[in-house]
Amino acid sequence: NLGLIFSKPSTRTRVSFTAGMYHLGGHVMFLSEKELQLGRGETIGDTARILSGYLDAVVIRTYSQEDLEDYAAVSEIPVINGLTDERHPCQALSDIMTISEFHDDLRRVKVVYLGDGNNVATSLMHVCALVGAEVVICSPEELSLPGWAIVEAKEISASTGARVANMTDPAEAVAVADFLYTDVWFSMGQQRSPDKRELLEPYRIDTELLSLAKDSCRVMHCLPAHRGEEIEAGVMDGPRSIVFRQAENRLHAQKELLKLLLENAEE
Ligand code: CP
Ligand code: NVA
Repeated sequence: NLGLIFSKPSTRTRVSFTAGMYHLGGHVMFLSEKELQLGRGETIGDTARILSGYLDAVVIRTYSQEDLEDYAAVSEIPVINGLTDERHPCQALSDIMTISEFHDDLRRVKVVYLGDGNNVATSLMHVCALVGAEVVICSPEELSLPGWAIVEAKEISASTGARVANMTDPAEAVAVADFLYTDVWFSMGQQRSPDKRELLEPYRIDTELLSLAKDSCRVMHCLPAHRGEEIEAGVMDGPRSIVFRQAENRLHAQKELLKLLLENAEE
């Protein structure tokens, strides 16, 4: 029995975990935070203790990474991060699986992320660091990744030989990319601000920017996309885009994750 405790909307994460768990012969309960007593003030710790008695694993999608870690500290069953404001590790699993399908040597691949230094960028950088790839996060200085995320990536890279870098110039970053990745400029829970939009304009993946990349360069996006904002619609639907394969791989990567966690939990 897998519980999905979600306080933000979701298409891919919710449906891929649900379908994946059904494929494995399990059951799923979708638990919107608002409909649980959690929404009326029952503590995270009490909720985690109670649900551990009924379920075998939970996926949590929420705002605060600290709330998720507080839940995990008390939970007696595996807790999967289905996205917080800081991280999106399940997305990163699918991303690296997709990259490995289109490139035969993860230790030589160059992944370039363009745009807001957000949760998706953080987890992409961390997964690239784990597999020993080269990753560049290219953002305006004001929107670069938080210091802790970079420190963590550098710590991981020390043992894997990955190369992790930050840049601000999109043209320079694009030129080296095997994979170009972007995400929305305004994440769930953020106000749309004209100032932030203006800062990010030069980071849009459009035909012009893509013309500076290698012919073999592929385009990725975790989705949902704001077509015309961080990515041109024609690029997203074009021959270099692998965004729909990437989305499908959420299902395959997470089924393996569930198998691993549930097999271990039974030991
Ligand atoms: N990429 C992703 O996590 O999509 P959803 O918000 O639809 O789950
Ligand atoms: N950065 C985005 C990712 C959505 C899957 C957000 O947090 O809204």
